[in-house]
Amino acid sequence: MDVPETAERIADRLSGVSLPEHVAIVMDGNGRWAQQRGQPRHAGHYAGVQAVRGVIEVCARLQVRALTLFAFSSENWRRPKAEVRVLMELFRTTLDRELAELKRNNIRLRFIGERGRLEKGLQQRLTLAEEETAANDALTLVVATSYGGRWELSEATRRLASAAVRGELDPAQIDEAALRSALCAPDIPDPDLFIRTGGEQRLSNFLLWQLAYTELYFTETLWPDFTPDELAVALEDFAERERRFGELGSKQGAGEQQLAAVPLGQARDA
Ligand code: IPE
Ligand code: IPE
Ligand code: MG
Repeated sequence: MDVPETAERIADRLSGVSLPEHVAIVMDGNGRWAQQRGQPRHAGHYAGVQAVRGVIEVCARLQVRALTLFAFSSENWRRPKAEVRVLMELFRTTLDRELAELKRNNIRLRFIGERGRLEKGLQQRLTLAEEETAANDALTLVVATSYGGRWELSEATRRLASAAVRGELDPAQIDEAALRSALCAPDIPDPDLFIRTGGEQRLSNFLLWQLAYTELYFTETLWPDFTPDELAVALEDFAERERRFGELGSKQGAGEQQLAAVPLGQARDA
């Protein structure tokens, strides 16, 4: 697959479609993809890298502001040691191999998750990649690794409590904005669209705070098979959604205006 050419075609296909500013993806189904082919699970993880390249390329081309990819969860540490080792090694080699290309494309890298659990060398690479891409202002690529939504919220709570104990924060001031400010990447707006491949319909502890009003999209497609065209289908589906955020939507809003036009007594009798 010629990735840049595919991205051009997708951009044509989606021209005029209203796009999300932030897409968050649970890349699930690698193990099953491999098992279906009689291969070991790690073959699916390797195969998934191409799908990662495809979505990054398309999001960058479409000028999506942020893309968050769930690479490894807090709970994934409970997998067999050999699989964890393969995943960490793949993460490190992919980062090393792709960093130059990401930089060339003006992509900013950020990592969210419990870094202290990662190997020291990998921790340093993450920090370096963040520093070296900090000034890039096309797509922001957020990679969630060793990440769990509950971990992030516990961590945020601890930070606020510490600030309160130091006398820097009045507990009465703790509101939604204060809690958000203590999250891993408070400056990045919440995802507009969540995509999960692999057929499971759950969040698996991903971005629990940030997904409160995100549009959810699930597909049976296993992650290594998730092509730019499948991403285009998800984006087209998103464009059809009506987001209401608890308010009245355009249809209900129109009904409200009609009601307002009816004299009060008649409306009550109706
Ligand atoms: C997603 O694929 C990758 C990670 C969780 C790291 P899985 O490894 O969960 O694949 P399935 O769900 O077992 O098929
Ligand atoms: C979610 O997939 C985590 C990632 C894709 C990194 P899992 O395969 O770990 O989720 P569960 O166990 O099916 O909920
Ligand atoms: Mg899975």
